[in-house]
Amino acid sequence: MTPPVIEIAHATVGYDGRPVLRDVSLTVTAGEVVAVLGANGSGKSTLVRAALGLVPVGAGSVALFGTPRRRFRQWHRIGYVPQRPGAGSGVPATVREVVASGRLARRGVLRPAGRADREAVTAALDAVGLADRAGDPVSTLSGGQQQRTLIARALAGGPELLVLDEPTAGVDAASQEAFAEALRGFRDGGGTVL
Ligand SMILES: Nc1ncnc2c1ncn2[C@@H]1O[C@H](COP(=O)(O)OP(=O)(O)OP(=O)(O)O)[C@@H](O)[C@H]1O
Ligand SMILES: [Mg+2]
Repeated sequence: MTPPVIEIAHATVGYDGRPVLRDVSLTVTAGEVVAVLGANGSGKSTLVRAALGLVPVGAGSVALFGTPRRRFRQWHRIGYVPQRPGAGSGVPATVREVVASGRLARRGVLRPAGRADREAVTAALDAVGLADRAGDPVSTLSGGQQQRTLIARALAGGPELLVLDEPTAGVDAASQEAFAEALRGFRDGGGTVL
């Protein structure tokens, strides 16, 4: 039997020793699409960060693809879109460059991009409807377009698991529809979504 993609068991997670989540358990199996709902400040982003090892887990355990989080190294299997990070962040990168950075975990920084890399980047740009903006600096895009750039970056890596934290906040209805279509394709290809 294949192990769960994400398995959080009885986890306590917090910041500066102040717990935000207590005794939280979550199992996401391959092919599932799981949505986490809750009020602002209820700990959704904290839960996602704990799953990815971005905040330490006090009590309890976290495993990814059957491997304890601490020993997990196969980051190319996971695409992550954080909540409102600002894709620009002052770096004068183009949309295509930001999306191509989603391939780095897969090909390694030192190996030049090959045909498969270029095709994955082009497909991801098409999926979010930004092909015509590929050459533009990310900083010149609107907030929603920057958010779509980050979704494309996560898709470009060809992950098995997509972890999306409020991915469509600030994204207009037409683009949300395109995003839903891209997610549908990802799921139909066997992908898992949190
Ligand atoms: N880096 C941090 N340092 C200290 N406290 C934090 C940090 N990030 C979040 N918190 C606190 O943890 C709690 C949960 O925050 P979290 O961001 O996980 O909520 P959320 O459910 O994602 O909310 P939202 O719907 O607004 O995105 C909040 O009380 C918040 O103030
Ligand atoms: Mg949040």
